[in-house]
Amino acid sequence: MKISKVFFALVVMLVFVGSLVGCAPAATPAAPTAVPATDVPAKKVYTYADMVVGFLQTGSEGGWRAANSASFKETATQLGINLKFYDSQNDLAKQVAGFQQFIEDPEVNVIVLQPLEVTGWEQAMKDAKAAGKTVILSDRRIDGLEDYYVTFIGADFVEEGRKAGREMCKMLEGSDSKNVWELVGNVGASAAIDRGVGFRETAAECGINITKSQTANWSVSEGKQVTEAWLKETKDVQGIFGQNDEMAFGAIEALKEAGLVPAVDVKILSVDATAGAFQAMLDGTLNVTVECNPLLAPQVYEAALAALNGESLPKWIPSQESVFYADDPNLKDIAAGRKY
Ligand code: AHR
Repeated sequence: MKISKVFFALVVMLVFVGSLVGCAPAATPAAPTAVPATDVPAKKVYTYADMVVGFLQTGSEGGWRAANSASFKETATQLGINLKFYDSQNDLAKQVAGFQQFIEDPEVNVIVLQPLEVTGWEQAMKDAKAAGKTVILSDRRIDGLEDYYVTFIGADFVEEGRKAGREMCKMLEGSDSKNVWELVGNVGASAAIDRGVGFRETAAECGINITKSQTANWSVSEGKQVTEAWLKETKDVQGIFGQNDEMAFGAIEALKEAGLVPAVDVKILSVDATAGAFQAMLDGTLNVTVECNPLLAPQVYEAALAALNGESLPKWIPSQESVFYADDPNLKDIAAGRKY
């Protein structure tokens, strides 16, 4: 029996020791040696020198557009940005093709689109996102697709139209008739669509009757042709709203050739506030111009850099604008101080 007791005690001891070993925590693996901070790949911080911008300009339809193009070229040079400038020649198919070229260009990391029209962008925007390009809208908006661009930097064209309607109401106050003709920009452009919406909102408040409205595609020549044709039908017009300065200049020429005094017999109102508009106001042929700021490049490039560095941006960053009047006693000084 004594042997069995000894054996039993031995077994118990072995079991006890084993149980200790079994519960003993596994040897804790040595803590991973901390990777010295210098070996952790730092998150890249982009600078303007890293930016290669594919810029899709609408075309070269007038003074506003010339100032807008100069803003993007001059500011890119100042900031050291590699700017690839594409002139869409006011042709939507060309602009979409240029967009695709920038998507396929491995150098381009930012695409800035100034869309000719609000529609026709779905596939291009989806392709750009799939290719990892940062897309920013400038000057004009597109319909929908907010998930495919970082932000839109440009004017509130509806508000520009509202301002125009309010100014036309002021000019026609007390007039027996308030027949107004509207010269429209290129059909499908947000600037044309939205200015027309805003103008109708406020013009209706004072009983303005828009008796004629037609596209003149932002140009002086078409503005003149359309106004000439209308004047052959009737001269019962008290105001003309040019959705940009150039079309208003064409209307002014047509009025003169028809024996009417622009800005006196017929009130003339336009949008853009280019140097030409200030000259027309100083000449007494234009009554009012509503500003649309073309100098958008600094804001656009700043937003693009923020986006490359992962910052979130509002979907729309409106540009700040004013209204200018021929009867402003400081008009000459204001004109002298403007950049475009
Ligand atoms: O998008 C802005 C508009 O485009 C300007 O008012 C016009 O002059 C230009 O064609």
